[in-house]
Parts: sequence; structure tokens; C-alpha cells
Amino acid sequence: MFNRVPGTRDILPQEISRWQRLEEITRKTFSLFNYSEIRTPIIEEEPLFNRSLGESTEIVRKQMFLVKKEKDTYCLRPEGTAAIVRAYIENNLDKTNGFIKLYYIGPMFRAERPQKGRLRQFHHIGCEVIGSAEPEVDVEIISLADNLLKNFSIEGYNIQINSLGCLEDKNKLVDILRQQLKPSLNKLCDDCRVRFKDNILRVLDCKNEACRQILKTLDIKNKHLCPECETHFNKVRGGLDALKLNYTVNPMLVRGLDYYTRTVFEITHSGLGAQDAIGAGGRYDNLVKELGGPKLSAIGFAFGVERLFLASGEPAANGKKGLSFIISLGEEAKKASLLLLDKIRKEGICCDTDYENRSLKAAMRRANDLGAAYVLILGEDELKKNTVTLKNMGSGEQREIHIETLTEELKKGCGC
Ligand code: HAM
Repeated sequence: MFNRVPGTRDILPQEISRWQRLEEITRKTFSLFNYSEIRTPIIEEEPLFNRSLGESTEIVRKQMFLVKKEKDTYCLRPEGTAAIVRAYIENNLDKTNGFIKLYYIGPMFRAERPQKGRLRQFHHIGCEVIGSAEPEVDVEIISLADNLLKNFSIEGYNIQINSLGCLEDKNKLVDILRQQLKPSLNKLCDDCRVRFKDNILRVLDCKNEACRQILKTLDIKNKHLCPECETHFNKVRGGLDALKLNYTVNPMLVRGLDYYTRTVFEITHSGLGAQDAIGAGGRYDNLVKELGGPKLSAIGFAFGVERLFLASGEPAANGKKGLSFIISLGEEAKKASLLLLDKIRKEGICCDTDYENRSLKAAMRRANDLGAAYVLILGEDELKKNTVTLKNMGSGEQREIHIETLTEELKKGCGC
């Protein structure tokens, strides 16, 4: 017997409906905001991510699933942004589309230690807008994230935003942090002492209690921002205020990936425990050029689907909406039921039958387990009269109905 790889999950038929529902809401919402879907390969060249996310990030250092084939090394994508920028450049979308709004849904892979809300294969719902540095785009993106969450019926989330500023500002922020953290260097945890050298911004994400106490004493109230970046950030805030969107400014929010500049944001949910980020994103105004494309600004975000389910607390719904289930009693009825099944399906109504010759009682139990809306019982009596016995599984009502009017009746209550 084989087991699934730790940190991966099978999405079983009984829980697929909530995935499909979430995907449907996602597509509708993105379409409302005029975003187009893009699907890129799951496998990419390893250096794409090393270059985009940064050699010193946790993802590149420890979490890449590498696939070696002869002299090439590929990796299972740990995130979507770099792959989308690669696709944008490679397919010359800057020449045909220029400014573009893209969304994606799909699996991502990170070799992390699995725990609640932290998987090795998880799913992103994400988007990237390439081709504009306007603060109004930042406002649209954050508002879109908020709209998605509302449409998913998720409550109790918290949107935090910050601005890292341009590359020069980011360097200034690194200097400020270095100055302020230096006196406490030997009180930081082992990881943070390494981060202090390699990627000091990541110290701000540390969950270690001793580090958190030191971080509380820092004074970094966006002093690193140049006038242009400060104006940009003020306009983003102004736009969010105008939309009456609930958010807080957190000067300690920096995001760990190298590509971010200016606006960054993170959405957390208090019900999730240690892994409380349900989504995150930000601007990356240098990445397109960095990866060989034109100088174009961009911004995006991604939600972790499994964490959205944890936050929504929605149980995995059972059954198929509006299913009709035929139970035939006797050989003749069984033959006739196949024709009836075909007729009902051709009318666009989802329908199934008992293929296992169960007793009436057992077949009714099966229909119930499947979440059928209607059961159609076809016995010898009904066959003679050209009728079926129709049971509404919701109300329990049962009556005999002529075959000719059956599909009309099923359509009224079916919804499929
Ligand atoms: P990220 O913060 O690395 O950003 O991931 C986004 C979300 O994916 C997280 O907030 C979390 O909900 C979920 N997530 C991350 N790792 C795991 C995991 N191991 N298991 C379960 N869920 C996880 C990005 O990936 C950026 N590409 C977002 C972005 C798009 N920025 C600009 N555009």
C-alpha cells in the first residue's frame, strides 16, 4: 500500500463541491473586475525563482521541490508571480496587451514542515496586474481581495498594509533596521542572527517570543520613504478610505520576498492559529525588467485556498445539488429505467440510478447518502400506467406522476 506524500491532500468527491463553489465565485468576481485567467506550467526552471524571490529567502533556501533531468534543474513552482511574469515576457504580452490584469487558480509547492494550514502542496487563488504604477491599481487590488473574501462569506479578517518604498527606500529601511537591531543582536534567535546578515527584513516576521519583544522597541514609522513613495502610499490610503475599506497600517509589515517594492499587504484571520495569513501581496515594480522584460510596474496578491476553507469554517458539503435518483423494481422496470435516465439527462437534469440491485430500502438509503433531491421509483405497476412514484427527499412528499410531465416537474425543483 502507498501513502500520499506528507503535506499533500486528496480532495475527495464529498468535498469537491466547496472547491467548485469557491472557484465559481473566484471566476465571477475576477470577471466583474475585468481580469482574464492565465494558466502556466506547474514546472519551471529553478533560477526563475532564485532570481525573483531572492537567494536568501526561506523559499529558495529550503523549500523548493527540485526536479533534475539530465543537466537541467527544474522546480515545482512555489508561487505564481514569477511564473506569470515569465509568461508575460516570453509571450510578448507587453507588445500585444501592455497593461494586463490576470488571475490564476492552481497548486503551488513548498517543502515546508507540514502543520495545520501549512502544506507542501497547497493552492493559490491569485492575480497580477502588469503595466501600471498608479496607486489606483493598488486600491483596486486590495479592494478586489476584500470583495473576494466577502463573496466567499469569510468574516473576521484583518487587512494590514505598508509601503516598502522604492529600492533606495528599501535599502534605507534595511539600514534603519540594522542600526536599531545591532545592540540586541546577541539576544536574537539563531535564525534571526543569520537573517540579520542575509535578509534583515525577515527578522520582522519572526515568531520567537524573545525576538518579538525586541521588535516591539523598534521605531520605524515609514521614515525610509522618499517623497514620491510617501505620496504614492498616501494616495493608496486615500483610495481605500474613500471606499470605506477596513485596514490598518503596520510599519512592521515587510513581506519576505525580494521582489516587493512600495505597497505590501497581508490579510490575517484570528481563527487560524500560527499560520494566520490567508492571503498576501504587493507591488513589484522592478521584477519585469529584472527577468528580462521592459521596465513595467506590477502588483498582485494570492490567497491560500486551504486557509480560506479553515477561515470560512464551512463544512465540506455532501452530495450533488438537485440530483434525481431512479430506483427500479424488477427486470422490466430496470430496462425502462435506462431509457428514463437517458431522457431526463437529455433534458439537462442530473440523474443517476442504482446499478447494484439493492432492495428498495437500501436504494433509498443510498439516494439519501448521495443527497438526492428526488427519488423516482419505477415498479411494474408504474410501468403499466406509464407513471413513476416521485418522492421529494426534502419534504418527504410522495406522489404518482405521469412520465410525460416528469421532467417538467423535476426542473421546477432541481436547480442543476
Ligand atoms: P505568499 O505570502 O508566499 O505570497 O503566499 C500567499 C498565501 O499562500 C499565504 O498568505 C498563505 O495563505 C498561502 N500559503 C503560503 N504557503 C503555504 C503553505 N505552505 N500551505 C498553505 N498555504 C500557504 C505569494 O506567494 C506571492 N506570490 C503573492 C503575490 C502575488 N504577491 C504579488 N503577487
